[in-house]
Amino acid sequence: MVCESNNKSYLKSQHLKIIGQNTLRGKVKISGAKNSALVLLAASLLTEEKTILDNVPFLTDIDKMGNILKNLGVKLRSKDHQLIIDSKNISIQELPYELVNGLRASFFCIGALLTRFGEASIPLPGGCNIGERPINEHINGLRALGAEIIIDKDVVKAKLVKKSKLLGANIRLNCPSVGATETLIMAASLAEGRTVIENAAREPEIQDLCQMLNKMGAKIYDSGKEKIIIDGVQKLHGCTHKVIPDRIEAGTFLIAAAATSSSITVSPIIPNHLEAVLNKLEESGSKITIKGNSISIKGNEIKAVDIKTAPFPGFPTDLQAPFMALMTIAKGKSKITETIFEKRMNHVDLLNQMGSSITLKDNTAQINGVKKLKGMTLVGLDLRSSAALIIAALTTKNVSRIYGLEHLDRGYENFELKLSQLGTNVKRRTTKNICESNYKSSDINEEMKSAMKAA
Ligand code: EPZ
Repeated sequence: MVCESNNKSYLKSQHLKIIGQNTLRGKVKISGAKNSALVLLAASLLTEEKTILDNVPFLTDIDKMGNILKNLGVKLRSKDHQLIIDSKNISIQELPYELVNGLRASFFCIGALLTRFGEASIPLPGGCNIGERPINEHINGLRALGAEIIIDKDVVKAKLVKKSKLLGANIRLNCPSVGATETLIMAASLAEGRTVIENAAREPEIQDLCQMLNKMGAKIYDSGKEKIIIDGVQKLHGCTHKVIPDRIEAGTFLIAAAATSSSITVSPIIPNHLEAVLNKLEESGSKITIKGNSISIKGNEIKAVDIKTAPFPGFPTDLQAPFMALMTIAKGKSKITETIFEKRMNHVDLLNQMGSSITLKDNTAQINGVKKLKGMTLVGLDLRSSAALIIAALTTKNVSRIYGLEHLDRGYENFELKLSQLGTNVKRRTTKNICESNYKSSDINEEMKSAMKAA
């Protein structure tokens, strides 16, 4: 009997209890972008003056990044969604692995620390559930700027040996890595001379970083293009900067509306940050209306469409799983190809347990649309696959329980609150004991049982 499972810690984990088939209606407020706020926090290390970030989302990843900065001696004060950051007295020390483990963005601090202090030691971020997550582009670029880098017992140790500053260089990335582009922009901002980064990533979060750095006195040109030019300066000063809205959160809500034939409005949002997604939603039958910094959607009968993820401005890999949930109940066959991460299909098996009909071969999912899915008790395995399961659960007419909220809370602020404000029946439950939630152990699938054993 499941209840005899001895994984108490897991049994205490939270889950979302979802009773689907309500349509969503109304307006949802979009929070600040996780993947912008994280890199802006790293950028605050570049100055000894005070930096103020507005519109910072309440997310566990942001808390983690805050703890990393505090460990370096940064003073952080939060006032609602505002963070006041004072990086005047930083003690360069190796960051403890347990602090950086699981937070990829922690590695992005290396460029800022190296260029300001001439040295930095950051544990390898390691892989995660969606892929290997190598850092060769970061390291090659920093070496091109004159850093000496060794990897010693899984810690990346970077320092300047012969010179007191990094030297500007021409760097061509092999792949348009978001993180590597951000690391190198930060490193080059205080280097001597000009740095040109070719094949740079063009994501809006990078443009947000460059806007903030230029406010701090940096000289960065053409952010958002494939070739970014950075003229190093002597010093950067503090600034106040508002984080851009989260395009991935907004896209997730729009997809949820399309999946439940609902009409909602998401705001604030910068519409051209979601162009590829809006095109695919329209192609799949939804009606989209853009007014200033608001996007409204009216869901209709869902048509099957193919998507292939790509670097910005292509279809974002972070919305591949949520969009797949939509395609499971579309009319017809669709194909979804993931080109960015090698293991970002954890949701396929879970969606199939809800009754979808997906076959997977070499990172390409073939989806035969089905009439309806069935509610299940499932464990989300990464941030965006958890969101996909919740979208799928909203379309069923019975109860679903989605575990693995430690992933969801990394990237969605008050997700269930925002969903319930849109009229859905979604509640966060803390399960003291699986038995107490008095549902049949047959509801608990193999995934769940193995997850309990693992916890
Ligand atoms: C950022 O990760 C985002 N994270 C990811 O969001 C997002 O999915 C990803 O960019 C792509 O858009 C943050 O900004 C904190 P990459 P990042 O370097 O920088 C390969 C989410 O759900 N690569 O652009 O780690 C790599 O293997 C998260 O919010 C190298 O080969 O992504 C991958 O296949 C998930 N060598 C591809 O590039 C390197 O040195 C894209 O990775 C670096 C990357």
